[in-house]
Amino acid sequence: MTTILAIANQKGGVGKTTTAINLAAALSLRQKRTLLIDLDPQANSTIAFFDPTEIQASVYDVLSDHRVDLASVIRPTKDPFLFVAPGRLALAKLEQQLAGQFDAPYKLKDALTPIQKNYDFIVLDTPPALGILTVNALVAATHLIVPIQAAYFAIEGTDDLLETYERVRARPNPNLKMMGVVITLFDKRTNISRDTHEQIRSVFGPVLFKTRISKNVRLEESPAYKETIFTFAPKSPGAQEYRRLAQEVIQRAEEDRIARHTEDAA
Ligand SMILES: Nc1ncnc2c1ncn2[C@@H]1O[C@H](COP(=O)(O)OP(=O)(O)O)[C@@H](O)[C@H]1O
Ligand SMILES: [Mg+2]
Repeated sequence: MTTILAIANQKGGVGKTTTAINLAAALSLRQKRTLLIDLDPQANSTIAFFDPTEIQASVYDVLSDHRVDLASVIRPTKDPFLFVAPGRLALAKLEQQLAGQFDAPYKLKDALTPIQKNYDFIVLDTPPALGILTVNALVAATHLIVPIQAAYFAIEGTDDLLETYERVRARPNPNLKMMGVVITLFDKRTNISRDTHEQIRSVFGPVLFKTRISKNVRLEESPAYKETIFTFAPKSPGAQEYRRLAQEVIQRAEEDRIARHTEDAA
């Protein structure tokens, strides 16, 4: 069974894209066949791998025209286990284009159906909004991962995301599960970071991943060189932390698979 991870938080700048890129890369390094899908019109995940001028077909074409197969836009990367379905600015037009279409929230799910078996993990990078693109991600996903920046007011706004999550679970995707919350941009020298960590822990409890992602300039630099943290600075704290996060993700996905299997058998 393929694990499909929606990385979502409607706040911008909280580390969604950094997590999507480096978690996907870490999973592929563990020889998991991994597909990263960029659903953000800003296309930051895409630009971290490719020159935007070489992108002809993107996820936009797939979601706006059912005749375009997702397989036809997927591109290989330097890592043989990692593939990317690029996004582009045109994705911003989808909100209007899909308005009124009864199957608008299901476009990505439908596009994934014929190809998802080719991957162990699919990672969905989403825009900083709770619009149709993020809803498509939640409808297609098996799990939600929420990056939260260790900063004041970090938790504000997650209410809206969790409400959307519950609404998606109520109808289109009852199997969707919260896999975890990951603290990002953590700075152990500051009280703000420590206070927020405590607050997030008290709100989310065991849902919180044990791994925290620290503030690390290498993570900020690597996309500019079209590299993931594992080729750019493999010994950096950022590389170590995303490796550990991937381990936790693999473990949680496995535990879930077993739980679902047991439920089915009962
Ligand atoms: N752990 C980190 N350490 C340092 N910089 C980071 C870290 N995580 C993200 N950043 C930087 O912060 C900015 C916002 O991160 P990004 O992943 O693009 O967030 P989002 O996708 O949620 O908008 C980017 O410039 C990114 O390089
Ligand atoms: Mg982003």
